[in-house]
Amino acid sequence: ENERGIDIANLRAKTGLVTLDPAFMNTASTKSAITFLDGEKGILRYRGIPIEQLAEKSRFVETAYLLIYGELPTQPELDRFSNLLTRHSLIHEDMKHFFDGFPSTAHPMAVLSSMVCSLSTYYPEEHDINDKEKMDITIARLISKVRTIAAYAYKKSIGQPFIYPQNNLKYAANFMHMMFAVPAEPYVVDPDIESAINLLFILHADHEQNCSTSTVRLVGSSRANLFASVAAGILALWGPLHGGANQEVIEMLEAIQRDGGNVKKYVELAKDKNSNFRLMGFGHRVYKNFDPRAKIIKQTADKILAKLGIQDPLLDIAKELEEAALKDSYFVERKLYPNVDFYSGIIYRALGFPTNMFTVLFAIGRLPGWIAHWKEMMEDTSTKIGRPRQIYTGPTERLYVPIEQRS
Ligand code: ACO
Repeated sequence: ENERGIDIANLRAKTGLVTLDPAFMNTASTKSAITFLDGEKGILRYRGIPIEQLAEKSRFVETAYLLIYGELPTQPELDRFSNLLTRHSLIHEDMKHFFDGFPSTAHPMAVLSSMVCSLSTYYPEEHDINDKEKMDITIARLISKVRTIAAYAYKKSIGQPFIYPQNNLKYAANFMHMMFAVPAEPYVVDPDIESAINLLFILHADHEQNCSTSTVRLVGSSRANLFASVAAGILALWGPLHGGANQEVIEMLEAIQRDGGNVKKYVELAKDKNSNFRLMGFGHRVYKNFDPRAKIIKQTADKILAKLGIQDPLLDIAKELEEAALKDSYFVERKLYPNVDFYSGIIYRALGFPTNMFTVLFAIGRLPGWIAHWKEMMEDTSTKIGRPRQIYTGPTERLYVPIEQRS
């Protein structure tokens, strides 16, 4: 029943009433208690806690726990969760052979999605939402192994041997170790870099019903297992209008640099509807004022580059581009602001990640959100399979014409 006491399901059944809302501009697909977002005011809260507080005070693993289980963990809860992550960080030795089959030029998002889906073949039985102990292991497996798979995909692409995870390292440091250590050479993770990775992962950890999370929910609504649902989410994230934008932003800034740094030219190009060019990292379906994540990332970019003593001309170009766009009535009228992807790539670059790994980093960060939404949906016994309707626009009934009579 809606708020006026009308039984909508019954009305639909009787009248065939269907609402058309392409791209879900105004349609809520679910109720959810995970993330609050106010696009007009630029507010983002995970389980009620402002993103600014989590960015300043939390670590990624703690924030992941908060999103997935609904509360900040007590110390014993956090220890148990961290221990599970440590225990499940290795991938099955046979899975290492999968990497041999991919070309070294394979995009790591394709590799990541394939490998996450493949986890279903190794752990097919442990996705029962009513078995908390097994589900906790499945969740920990996914969060921990995604990081190992991501690092191995990178090592494969550059032809270096895989570096095994180290149990004494925390989540972000262990990831950096698997990415950048080489055999027989000591590798120590700089604590500032570790903090930056934690921060970036926290900022990406959930964003309610975005394209990839809605994909995870839709796939999961058919009762597909967690690994399969998340593999689909990874692929949705890969698109350049979603998480793939962070790679596109750097490629756009490099193109502007090669073109002499003329930002105004690119602002004009983005306004031209025939150009097929958009300012990547600009605009958002929900934020119509500013993206609170972008604000934090921009400050972090300045700090990290200063700490590492890096002067990246792309950061200057990004700032000039932002300034030029925000002065332009086209962007002002449409409320287009830098989003989370605009400055994140500048930091990833400074930390040594190649451009094609940027969206993979987004995926590692977003994983707790995907898991939290899959779990919330599965725990709700009233969840039905997602099945949107359509407005048919094809021909009405026609007769079949044998091939020799067709013109
Ligand atoms: N550059 C130029 N014009 C833009 C841009 C942009 N980046 N973004 C939107 N517009 C224009 C559109 O052309 C449209 O103009 P119109 O009203 O004259 O037709 C208007 O602004 C509204 O844009 P829509 O595409 O209708 O907005 P929508 O909510 O569907 O799309 C999106 C949001 C996909 C983020 C869009 O702003 C975009 O393509 N941005 C660039 C890609 C990007 O940065 N994606 C990452 C988003 S954040 C994330 O997913 C993690």
